Order: sequence, then C-alpha cells, then structure tokens
Amino acid sequence: MAQRMPLVAGNWKMHKTVEEARHLVWDMLDALRDVPEVERVLCPPFTALLPVAQMLLGTDIKVGAQNMHWEEEGPYTGEISPRMVAEFAQFVIVGHSERRMLFGETDAMVRRKVHAALRHDLIPIVCVGETLEQRRAGQTEAVVRKQLLAALEGLQPEQVARLVIAYEPVWAIGTGEAATPEEAQRVIGQVIRAALAEAFGPETAQAVRVLYGGSVKAHNAAGFFAQPDIDGALVGGASLDPVQFPAIVRAAAR
Ligand code: 13P
Repeated sequence: MAQRMPLVAGNWKMHKTVEEARHLVWDMLDALRDVPEVERVLCPPFTALLPVAQMLLGTDIKVGAQNMHWEEEGPYTGEISPRMVAEFAQFVIVGHSERRMLFGETDAMVRRKVHAALRHDLIPIVCVGETLEQRRAGQTEAVVRKQLLAALEGLQPEQVARLVIAYEPVWAIGTGEAATPEEAQRVIGQVIRAALAEAFGPETAQAVRVLYGGSVKAHNAAGFFAQPDIDGALVGGASLDPVQFPAIVRAAAR
C-alpha cells in the first residue's frame, strides 16, 4: 500500500463567532500542535477564517474553507471566490451533502469548484455519500461512484493524486450513528478506490487520500483508522470539542 499521510479535518459548519472561534482554537492549540505525523485542518466559517489563520501562523496546522464559488470574481452576491479563500486557506471542502441537499449543489457545480480549487492551489476535500433511502434501495455503490466520477471529470491523474475524498454517508452525519469501520472500508476500498483506479490508473488510486466522515468521535475513531483504505476523518460535531478533536487526531497517528 502507498504511504499516505493521515489527515483529520474539523468541519465546524455554521458554528462559532470570531470570539468563540478564538476560544476554541486557544483551547486545543497545544494538544494539536505536536502531532506532525497527521495533517490537521480546521475549517471554520468564512468570517472566522482570517482570525483562525492568524492564530495558526507558525504552526503546521492548516486552514480550510467549507465552500466557495468557482468564479474568480463578479456579480455573485453572497459568494466567496477561490482567490479569496486562498488568501487564508490551503484546503476547501467541496460538495458536502448539506450543500447538495439544502442548497441545491449539483454534480456539475461540484466539478467546477474542484477545478477552480486546483487552479488556485487549494486542495479540495471532495465529499460523496448516499442518503438513507439510497442505501436502503441498494444504490450506495452507484450513487457514490457517480458523484465521485462527476466531480473529477476532466482532471489529469496527477491532479487527482493531490486531492482528498471524503466518504460521508448522509445517514451517519450528525446522527450519532456512524457507519461501521468495515462498511466504510468496503465503500472506500471497493467503490471509491476501484473507481479511481479505473478512471485514473491504479497508482493514482493508491495515492489519493480518502477520509471517512459521519459521527466520528474520540471513542470510535481508531476503528476507522485501522482500516487499510481509510486515511483519516472529516469530523463535524466532535471538531467543536477541544478535548475530543485532538484525541481523534492522536488516534490517526500511526
Ligand atoms: P458529524 O461528525 O457531526 O456527524 O458531521 C460529519 C460531517 O458532516 C463532516 O463534514
């Protein structure tokens, strides 16, 4: 298996004012600082990107945005461009299921965002995952494959190798009901890496980091990280907890 650097990213979603964000970072900074064998990324809301980035200066902890538009600039009221994100962040979450389901984001929009991120040297964390209905109907494999290949269409293998995929089954997000490590491994290994190998070659498929997301907590994280194809986690609720999030990071350290 290729050596892939584990990555744990905290998606704060729509939580934290600037002051609250400063407190949270302050409370976990020492515990997050010295885990060089795991890449650590904090994804605050847009308004807290600058203060969080400033607090992380001089550390090797990275910053990610939760979304962005694909255009450079223009008449897109309320949107944030890749150039603006790249001022503060190294990563950007793209195609989160909440964006897809609550804000009408389509596969085509996700693809434009992935391309835009790479053009601006931002590493996209591309989210894919099936709903409960799709899972019950036996469509997990087809849905994940379609979302994945649509998002990456038109990329070169060397571009694909740089990005990060997050498998986030919608039914596991915010429910406290995580997938089992074996289920997550099955989808990530047999669906996601298999599709990547088919479309971009086996070497690329082995180079891409694939995270699991959906009710990852300090008590269940190690089970996911023990799986051969899971390279880390995209953490929601537990990333707002200054004790749990560093504990998840430590669980990812080999
Ligand atoms: P939870 O960890 O709260 O289930 O959220 C997962 C998620 O959506 C991260 O992007």
